[in-house]
Amino acid sequence: MNATINLESKHFPVLLNELISIISPLYGGTFIDCTFGQGGYAEKILEHKKNDIIALDRDKEVFNNTLKLQKKYKQRFKFYNLKFSQLDQIKLKNNEIKGIIFDLGYSLNQIKNSQKGLSFSDKGKLNMKMGINDFSADDVISKMDENNLTKVFKVFGDEKYSKKIAKEIVKKRKVKIIKTEDLVKIIDGIKKYQKTKIHNSTKVFQALRILVNKEISELINGLVNSFNLIPVGGIIAVVTFHSIEDKIVKFFFKHYSEQRNSSRYFPEAEISERCFKLIHKKPILPSSNEIKKNPPSRSAKLRYGIKINKNCDFNDFREKFKNLIYVENLR
Ligand SMILES: C[S@@+](CC[C@H](N)C(=O)[O-])C[C@H]1O[C@@H](n2cnc3c(N)ncnc32)[C@H](O)[C@@H]1O
Repeated sequence: MNATINLESKHFPVLLNELISIISPLYGGTFIDCTFGQGGYAEKILEHKKNDIIALDRDKEVFNNTLKLQKKYKQRFKFYNLKFSQLDQIKLKNNEIKGIIFDLGYSLNQIKNSQKGLSFSDKGKLNMKMGINDFSADDVISKMDENNLTKVFKVFGDEKYSKKIAKEIVKKRKVKIIKTEDLVKIIDGIKKYQKTKIHNSTKVFQALRILVNKEISELINGLVNSFNLIPVGGIIAVVTFHSIEDKIVKFFFKHYSEQRNSSRYFPEAEISERCFKLIHKKPILPSSNEIKKNPPSRSAKLRYGIKINKNCDFNDFREKFKNLIYVENLR
């Protein structure tokens, strides 16, 4: 979800009706909600008496949002404060997993929480940690060298002024600690003659959030782990909000639903089985009504696949995105 969100706005689970119509034919079992957030998806799925939810979120502050569901649905609802790359750590008791869902990005509560510093209207120490992180945006801005900062802004933000912004950060941090508002000022100073529809800081903030939360490896590992967890016939559904996420999710479903005799990256490997059946080749987008009611939903894309093969070799998935993983590991 985008940080330009109106802070007065209400929480609307994005593409909720579309998601429910995809998974409802499988109702009567356990669904894993990998991104619990404010619980919009989980609550809707639990309305059906024969469904259970196992929910995950890396942000322990969503715990408050789980209380109502724990009270109402008791054994039918279980929450883990884990990242979805750790999906393989959850304990399943003969649960029949019907579907695994991801609604990537940030919840309205997280953006409103100025301590998290996810929005460029926040003030104070840079942060951007969603939960269970190894480092913050402050660590990156105060320590990373100019070349690596340039790469991060370029690759994760597609920022045209990456080099100039990185140079100015390194110059400024010699004389003072760069806070959220200082970073916005540095970027505004460099892009002052630019006329764009988006906020000057959107791209750099996106890049930092991806890096700090290791969103690339989270997503790749989360998707592979979900495939390994669901039985044949189960659904994996993912809502993305920016083009890098969508590229990864699109490749995952499209590449592994095609009949292939060999892998492009490992031509010696015979891969003749498809892993997914796709019902929609194109992503499902929010209706104009939904966008009117909830403008940040405009960048959402929903993709899903039905698992049709027990085993799948995902080596070329990581190979395909190795450059992004390389940048994510820069310090
Ligand atoms: C857009 S919100 C989900 C909203 C939710 N679908 C609802 O209806 O309320 C995304 C949530 O995913 C969580 N999240 C993001 N990346 C995660 C990860 N790698 N592992 C676990 N949770 C993650 C965030 O902390 C946030 O609470």
